[in-house]
Amino acid sequence: MSERFYVTTPIYYVNAQPHIGHAYTTIVADVMNRFHKLLGYKTYFLTGTDEHGDKIVQAAQEAAMEPKAYADRISRLFRETWPKLNISNDYFIRTTDAKHVRVVQHILQKVYDAGDIYFSTYKGLYCIGCERFYTERELVDGKCPDHDREPVEREEANYFFRMSKYQDWLIEHIEANPDFIRPERYRNEVLAFLREPLEDLCISRPKERLSWGITLPFDERYVTYVWFDALINYVSAIDYPDGELFAEFWPAAQHTIAKDILKPHGIYWPTMIRSAGFTPYRHLNVHGYWKINEGKMSKSRGTVVAPLDLVPIYGLDAFRYFLLREMVFGLDANFSEDALIQRLNADLANDLGNLFSRTLAMTAKYFDGRIPPFGAEPEAPDRELRDQTRQTIEVYRAEIPRLGFHKALISIWETLNTANKYIDSVAPWTLAKEAGQRPRLQTVMRNLLEVNRTVAVLIAPFMPETAETMLARLSIPKKALDLRLDEDSRWGTLHEGVPVHKGEALFPRVETEKIAQLKQKGMPPKAGAAALKEAGMELISFEEFKKLDLRTGIVKHAEAVPKSRKLLKLIVDIGEERQVVAGIAQTHTAEEVVGKQVIIVANLQPAKLMGIESRGMVLAVSDGDRLSLVTTAEPVSPGLRVS
Ligand code: ME8
Ligand code: MG
Repeated sequence: MSERFYVTTPIYYVNAQPHIGHAYTTIVADVMNRFHKLLGYKTYFLTGTDEHGDKIVQAAQEAAMEPKAYADRISRLFRETWPKLNISNDYFIRTTDAKHVRVVQHILQKVYDAGDIYFSTYKGLYCIGCERFYTERELVDGKCPDHDREPVEREEANYFFRMSKYQDWLIEHIEANPDFIRPERYRNEVLAFLREPLEDLCISRPKERLSWGITLPFDERYVTYVWFDALINYVSAIDYPDGELFAEFWPAAQHTIAKDILKPHGIYWPTMIRSAGFTPYRHLNVHGYWKINEGKMSKSRGTVVAPLDLVPIYGLDAFRYFLLREMVFGLDANFSEDALIQRLNADLANDLGNLFSRTLAMTAKYFDGRIPPFGAEPEAPDRELRDQTRQTIEVYRAEIPRLGFHKALISIWETLNTANKYIDSVAPWTLAKEAGQRPRLQTVMRNLLEVNRTVAVLIAPFMPETAETMLARLSIPKKALDLRLDEDSRWGTLHEGVPVHKGEALFPRVETEKIAQLKQKGMPPKAGAAALKEAGMELISFEEFKKLDLRTGIVKHAEAVPKSRKLLKLIVDIGEERQVVAGIAQTHTAEEVVGKQVIIVANLQPAKLMGIESRGMVLAVSDGDRLSLVTTAEPVSPGLRVS
């Protein structure tokens, strides 16, 4: 019976569009899935979306949509992005799926029946901005670090999960299984955290505060805390508790995440599992952050990079290769298009692309485009080439299971370099001219064809499209997912006399100058097609601009919108009184905006936000975390047209 492999990504929140951070984790899981298939494992690969909780309610409000309709929309965006990146997931779970909801309630009931959930009144420091309690330790100068504001005392009755009960067990489990959380730095981080007493976890939210969630099976007045809900996706997707998939794949489970969500995965989840009475996952694989210009990706700074903007310019496989080659799993890495172009031109166009096209061109020239037999007995450089290839296969087999993706790729590139040097040193073109060297030329070309075939198989998990193209040109019409390392990379098993097809360059060089020119014309941060599209299509005519009815106004009255941390309800005088709901509450209090002169879009379609009608939009500009209202340089009368 073949071995099993089960890999998951985080289920992404539906409050943002897919960016390269999400793409990286999902491509890593995809590479692992494809690698294990290549080794003959039976595999299961899960991804999905996390759709409940406060964050989603907020995002839906901003889009003036109901939470479920909003979640449907963004979830679809993720689901439709993955096939475009050649992601081979078996299932896509949504936490709003009925099947998931049932399993969450089942586990809650089980943990409750085991006596691990209790009801208690908690009094503590509560940040209204975050809608959560803070411990003293988490505050910075007594303030919430996210909102720079002092939390208020609040008392609330809730359900708590006895996480503390499992602290000692968890420490022992991590110590007995050194690769439970890996790489080691994150294992150490969790152990360090566990040196302090673990507090119990609040797992409910009263419905009057948040109703977008899964109702507790033992108390209808509450919904489940979003993390207790979300983590369970990893087993609800495979039909916990009784499904065959669960029995088959759970013992082989590996979760892949970034360091932002280490604590819920390294602490909450194993203790939840322990209480529910099944065995923990096998590995938690934790990677670092992709940064842009050494900083965080940020919407307001326009540094969020969307994978689907890059793929049309650079190609999917170049993008996948870059992500896996550039980041050392576990550490942060910097993303830049320049670095991507460099790798594309050097590693892909030059090393890989050239080896392949030289090999096929010479096969066409010297052997009429047909695979030659091994002619003469191997010589020293032949043995060296073959040993190098063999060694790469060993490194590859060893490194990918321990997350050394870049090392596996480096080793493949050592083989490519050895092969390119082999061509230069044995110089097939001179052998072709010398009488009696035909058998030697056969051996040399055959060796090169064998190396190219092996490389095609090895890169298949990383660059499935390229692998298929290379194999097809060697007359091996196999799908990447049907390849098996043992059979398909066995040296010497190409078929003599079979035709090969040179075709076009695998990776045309990207002209840095062309992209630089585009950028000079003011098109950063994107290059090529995406920039043109953006620049060209985003220009509007004066006629279009005139359609906007911008008016000066004065805020007459303002009040907070109950249960919303972003919204204020304003009455603005624009010659007439207008009710406008504005998303400015995180940076402005109601008192401070009264009397302010603002600019509003007066002819915006009316919308309902949190059930309150809004007729118009207040203009504001956000600079990092600061939000500033747009106004005129000197005070002017209300109701004037801005033009
Ligand atoms: O946390 N670099 O969802 P999320 C690398 N719903 N990876 C990044 C990244 C970056 N700059 N930014 C995001 C949630 N990621 C929860 C998870 S799981 C039961 C619930 C990736 O949408 C990375 O995988 O905030 C990170 O862990 C994840 O997106 C967070 O996604
Ligand atoms: Mg996040």
